[in-house]
Amino acid sequence: MAINNTRFHLLILIVVCFCCIFTQGKKPHIVFIVADDLGWNDVGYHNPSMITPNIDKLAREGVILNQSYVQPLCSPSRSSFMSGYYPFRTGLQHLVILPFQPVCLPLNITILPQELKNLGYATHMVGKWHLGFCKWECTPTYRGFDSYFGYYNAREFYYNHTLSMFFPGDYLDYRDGKAVVKNQDGVYSTNAFAKRAESIISEHNASEPLFLYLPFQAVHEPIEVPVQYEQMYPNIQNEGRRKFCGMVSALDEAIGNVTQALKDKGIYNDTIILFTADNGGWIPHHGNNYPLRGGKFTIYEGGTRGAAFIHGTGLQNAGRTYDGLIHAIDWLPTLVGAAGGAVNGRDGQNLWSSISTGSGEERSEFVYNLDDSLIAEEGHAAIRMGDYKLVEGYPGLYPGWYKPETELPPLTPEQSAALASENYDAYTYQLFNIKDDPTEHNDISQKYPDVVQKLKARLGDYRKESVKPNYPFLPDTKSDPTNFNNVWSPGWC
Ligand SMILES: *[C@@H]1O[C@H](CO)[C@@H](O)[C@H](O)[C@H]1NC(C)=O
Ligand SMILES: *[C@@H]1O[C@H](CO)[C@@H](O)[C@H](O)[C@H]1NC(C)=O
Ligand SMILES: *[C@@H]1O[C@H](CO)[C@@H](O)[C@H](O)[C@H]1NC(C)=O
Ligand SMILES: *[C@@H]1O[C@H](CO)[C@@H](O)[C@H](O)[C@H]1NC(C)=O
Ligand SMILES: *[C@@H]1O[C@H](CO)[C@@H](O)[C@H](O)[C@H]1NC(C)=O
Ligand SMILES: *[C@@H]1O[C@H](CO)[C@@H](O)[C@H](O)[C@H]1NC(C)=O
Repeated sequence: MAINNTRFHLLILIVVCFCCIFTQGKKPHIVFIVADDLGWNDVGYHNPSMITPNIDKLAREGVILNQSYVQPLCSPSRSSFMSGYYPFRTGLQHLVILPFQPVCLPLNITILPQELKNLGYATHMVGKWHLGFCKWECTPTYRGFDSYFGYYNAREFYYNHTLSMFFPGDYLDYRDGKAVVKNQDGVYSTNAFAKRAESIISEHNASEPLFLYLPFQAVHEPIEVPVQYEQMYPNIQNEGRRKFCGMVSALDEAIGNVTQALKDKGIYNDTIILFTADNGGWIPHHGNNYPLRGGKFTIYEGGTRGAAFIHGTGLQNAGRTYDGLIHAIDWLPTLVGAAGGAVNGRDGQNLWSSISTGSGEERSEFVYNLDDSLIAEEGHAAIRMGDYKLVEGYPGLYPGWYKPETELPPLTPEQSAALASENYDAYTYQLFNIKDDPTEHNDISQKYPDVVQKLKARLGDYRKESVKPNYPFLPDTKSDPTNFNNVWSPGWC
C-alpha cells in the first residue's frame, strides 16, 4: 500500500512536472497590430457610433489598456515599439523621418524582432515601417524580420502605393522583401495587408512561435476608402469624417479576417494580440480624440493617450480594464517577458506580470516627449509622475478640444509658428492632475508650485541623458527616386 502510494505520488509528480515544462516551454504566438493615426474616440468600445465589432469584441474579451501612452507622432512611437528606448535617446524625438533624410533607427540597437528571433520565433512584418530606409541595413529584413511586405515612408496613396514629396512626381513605395511590388495598383492596402497576414498565419509551422508585426496604413490620410465602408455611416454629414469612419470599419474587418485566420489555423487560443494606435487622431484629417485635449502632434492626452488593448493567452481574469500607466517603450520588454525572455538596460519596463494578473509592479512615471528642438518654438517636453503631468513649452499643433465632424483646415508651418510664439515659450509650464482632470481643462501650476518644481527637476534628470535630434534640414538629393527607377529606394547613405 505504502509502495503503491509512493508510486502514485511519483506518477502525479511526473505528470505535473511534464505539464510545467510543457507550458513554460510553450511560447505564445504574438500579433502586434498598429493602427495609424487612430484617435481615442475612433473605436467602438470608446464611442458607440463607430462600427468596429471585431475590435470591440477582442477588447472586451481581453484587457482594455486605459492609460497606454505613445509618442505624439509616427516615427518616434514606432522607434519606441521596436527599441524599448525613448526617442530622446535615439535622436528621433523631433517630428518624423522624412523620405529624403539619411536617418534611421540607430543600427546598434537589438530591436524587438531580433530579440524574439533569439527566443526561437519566426518573425514577419506587414505594413508601414517609417524607421528609415536610406541603406538596406536600415530596412526590416536586415533588422530581424524573416519577411516584409509594405512601405518605408510615412504615407502614400492606398490604391496605387505612391508618394509625392519634395521631388516633383509620384513614386512607388511598396516592397515584398527587397523586391519592388508593381502588380498591385488598384488594391486597397487594408485588404492587401490583411491578406498577406492571413497567408503568413496559414503557412506558419505552428510548432514554432510566430511574431507578426502588423502596422496597417489605415487610417492615416489620404482619406481613401472603398464605397461600401463609407456607406456604413449614412448619418454622418461631414464627408471627410464619413469616409474616415469607413476606413476604420475596413480596418476592423481586416482585423476580423486576421483573427479568423488564427482560428482556422488552430492557434487563436495560443496567441497574444496587441492592438494600439501610434499616436492620437489627426484633427484636420478627421481623426477624433474627444473628450481628450489635442491630437496628433500635441503632447496633450489627445495626441498621446492611445486606444489600445491586449487579448489572448496568459491574461488572467480577462474582460477587465488595466488602468496602470504603459508607454510605447514598454512593449519590447513586456512582449519578450511574455515569451519567457528578459532584456535589460532599456527605458521600457516589463509590465507583463502586472498587465496579465492585474497586480504587481506598475509604471510610476514616464516622459511624453523631450524635444529641445532646433526650432525654438517647436520645442516641447512633458513628464508624468503618478497622477501629475507637467507640460513645458509649446504643446504642439491642434491644442484644443474637437468634437467629431469638426472641420479644421491643416495649419501652414507659418501659422503654426505664429500660434506657438504668441502663446508659449520654453519657460511656459502647465500642470494637470490627469486622474481628476483627464481632459486637461485645469492648469494647476500656480496652485502647486512645489509639484511643478519636483516634476521640473525630474525632467531635468532625463534632459541630461538626452541626445540632440538627428534631424537634417537639407534634403539629401541623392535620395531622389528618379535615381532608382522611380521608386523610393535604399542605397544613398
Ligand atoms: C479610464 O480612464 C478614464 C479617464 O481617466 C476614467 O474616467 C475611467 O474610470 C477609466 N476606466 C477604468 C475602467 O478604469
Ligand atoms: C549606439 O551608438 C550611440 C552612438 O555611438 C551610443 O551613444 C549608444 O550608447 C549606442 N547604443 C547602444 C545600445 O549600444
Ligand atoms: C495615385 O492616386 C492618387 C489618388 O487616388 C492620384 O492623385 C495620383 O495621381 C495617383 N498617382 C499615380 C502615379 O498613379
Ligand atoms: C475579409 O475577408 C473577406 C472574405 O475573404 C473578403 O471578402 C474581405 O475583402 C476581407 N476584408 C478585408 C478588409 O480585407
Ligand atoms: C516545424 O518546426 C519544427 C520545430 O522547429 C520542425 O522540427 C519541423 O521539421 C517543422 N516542420 C516543417 C514542415 O517544416
Ligand atoms: C478557445 O478556448 C475557449 C475556452 O477554452 C474555447 O471555448 C474555444 O472554442 C477555443 N477557441 C478556439 C478557436 O480554439
